[in-house]
Amino acid sequence: DGAAALAPDLSGRRVVISAGGTREPLDPVRYLGNRSSGRQGWALARVAAARGADVTLVAANVDLPAPFGTRVVPVGTAEELRAAMLAEAGGADVVVMSAAVADFRPAEVAVAKLKKDSAAEPSAVPLVRNPDVLAELVTKRPPGQLVVGFAAETGDDAGDVLTHARAKLARKGCDLLVVNDVSGGRVFGRPDNAAVVLGADGTATELPEGSKDAVAAGIWTAVTARLS
Ligand code: CTP
Ligand code: CA
Repeated sequence: DGAAALAPDLSGRRVVISAGGTREPLDPVRYLGNRSSGRQGWALARVAAARGADVTLVAANVDLPAPFGTRVVPVGTAEELRAAMLAEAGGADVVVMSAAVADFRPAEVAVAKLKKDSAAEPSAVPLVRNPDVLAELVTKRPPGQLVVGFAAETGDDAGDVLTHARAKLARKGCDLLVVNDVSGGRVFGRPDNAAVVLGADGTATELPEGSKDAVAAGIWTAVTARLS
């Protein structure tokens, strides 16, 4: 209910949230990117600020106005997002990686615009791996800091959504993993959302289909239950 949603249970807490999606340049006008709008990260920031937190948003290519009472640090690429998160995370009580970070980037960025006018067919674009920001934040976190990851998963022959998500939670080493089932094109670009919050302690909390603010409220409630 409204009163519970506005309980100042995050007052005195500093939270750092990444949002949006990174863009990895190919030449001065082109990039490899993804469809993340930043809306779930924005909702997390808005709700955390309403519940009393000091909020910093590290925003990768998000075309939305800053939520009331938050500070936005704009970034473009995965490397920029990594640098900003490492710079901001030190004094935070909670770090949330809701950004969609490109797994790979072009190995080289052309200084001039790539042209199609040669007779040759296009060549493949060599890619290199981007750093895993969430895994690095986990290894560098100060004592007591809670780290939250996100995962958009689909089921496949190797396992269902929660099986993949449990493995990812263990691999990343974070405290909570917010899991979205994106089978069949769900979630991206939609105002509503649903999620399961998996805890490193073995818990699974289902957040029913609702607005992104409602999902954000559920995530913060799972977080505050674990803050010392
Ligand atoms: N993440 C990150 N740095 C990356 C890739 C992902 O910090 N280079 C973070 C995301 O912000 C998210 C979590 O890791 O919080 C899970 O992202 P996801 O893409 O699901 O995980 P990956 O390890 O990249 O695995 P996959 O092969 O399924 O893409
Ligand atoms: Ca990935």
